[in-house]
Amino acid sequence: MKQSLLFAVVFSLGAVWTFPVWSADQEILRSRVPADQVDAARAMSNPLPATSSTVENGKKIYEGKGFCRACHGADGKGLLGSDIDPGSLKGPLPRDFTDRDWQAARTDGELFWILKNGSKGTAMASFIPLVLTEEEAWQVLRYVRSFGQR
Ligand code: HEC
Repeated sequence: MKQSLLFAVVFSLGAVWTFPVWSADQEILRSRVPADQVDAARAMSNPLPATSSTVENGKKIYEGKGFCRACHGADGKGLLGSDIDPGSLKGPLPRDFTDRDWQAARTDGELFWILKNGSKGTAMASFIPLVLTEEEAWQVLRYVRSFGQR
């Protein structure tokens, strides 16, 4: 009786400790596009070729008018490499673009959807059309993809 109680306590503590670790990864991989739009978003592809000039233009936007760098960092790793105090942002942290599992989990169309609509309830705002044209968005996404190839 005593033993099984001990087992139950140890087991439930274990579940409490390991669950957040597992759910953090799963939470990042969960698509930000609502279920009724995700198929259409996934079907879109980047119309611009992955040439060095497209990536270079994307970098200029990332570090300039898009101010992506302020939250995602010059190295694409998120707040760690950024100018923002981690305590100042509410909600989930800016995405680490060097995370290969995340890169593989998303299509270009899903990322474009985010630039258009933002990620609801987070610091990730919508950028098209107020800040970026659609063409600029596809350029900056080529640069975002380049973080996954280093
Ligand atoms: C004010 C801070 C901030 C700025 C500026 C910002 N982001 Fe984000 N971004 C975030 C946060 C926070 C998340 C995580 C949102 C979430 O978990 O749903 C995010 C997530 C993303 C994602 C991942 C969405 C997904 O499907 O996982 C992409 C792509 C992205 N940002 C691109 C950009 C680009 C490109 C720019 C510049 C044009 C930019 N962000 C500017 C805070 C920012």
